[in-house]
Amino acid sequence: MTERIPLELAALTKTFATPAGPVVAVQDVNARVHEGEFACILGHSGCGKSTVLSIIAGAKADGPGTDRAVVFQAPCLLPWLTVRENVALAVTQASPRLTRAERRARVDRYLELVGVADSADQWPGELSLGTQQCVSLARALSVDPRFLLLDEPFAMLDSLTRFELQDILLQVWEQNRKIVVMVTHDVDEALYLADRLILMTDGPSARVGEILSVPFPRPRARMAVLEHPRYVEFHGRVIDFLENHAS
Ligand SMILES: Nc1ncnc2c1ncn2[C@@H]1O[C@H](COP(=O)(O)OP(=O)(O)OP(=O)(O)O)[C@@H](O)[C@H]1O
Ligand SMILES: [Mg+2]
Repeated sequence: MTERIPLELAALTKTFATPAGPVVAVQDVNARVHEGEFACILGHSGCGKSTVLSIIAGAKADGPGTDRAVVFQAPCLLPWLTVRENVALAVTQASPRLTRAERRARVDRYLELVGVADSADQWPGELSLGTQQCVSLARALSVDPRFLLLDEPFAMLDSLTRFELQDILLQVWEQNRKIVVMVTHDVDEALYLADRLILMTDGPSARVGEILSVPFPRPRARMAVLEHPRYVEFHGRVIDFLENHAS
């Protein structure tokens, strides 16, 4: 039986109209993401990673409902709603027929899952960036999307908080195995989290330069990954690629 590919980018090209004329941001991008896979898109700033992700986010859904959820670099919770209300709003939009009690249970379950249940009645402005990003993650997961799309969700966090959120994301993903496409330019983060790395060349006309399968066994622990006999080799391959495609 041939595998059904849930996400396939085939000869994807995106051109932006600018005052100086059309700019080809990404050209002829080809990539496949398989069922249950965690993929990272890696490349230099401005190469077109967010462009590719937003095309995936907006691509025509093949079924009804909210099948893809996005988390961006900057938390974008509604400031006039509490944490619980922010997540409840997403749940209501995705599943309008839930009873009040069912909705509440679902919201609380996801807040619990990412470890922010204690903040449920707080306002976003009262929370650290890291906690706000956890809530954004809970909100994205709460609609039970088929695809979880993450655009540098941890880039604004200090490194300890980033490690914490990477661990939370990894734990949650081990439990539910959504298809994840995550943009990052942190090589260590990509090697820790992903099954496959989609390495993009610099733009304009950025392309997929290489796709690497990450061989570290799961479930993963940070130290075990760092000490894996092939870690240095893979790290070096990614750094080499990025250096050879720097503009
Ligand atoms: N709406 C737009 N209009 C014109 N040009 C755009 C638009 N959006 C993006 N671009 C251009 O397309 C290219 C790719 O941008 P994109 O934001 O996808 O890169 P990126 O890899 O996500 O960058 P970063 O790492 O800084 O987030 C850039 O040259 C950018 O200037
Ligand atoms: Mg971007």
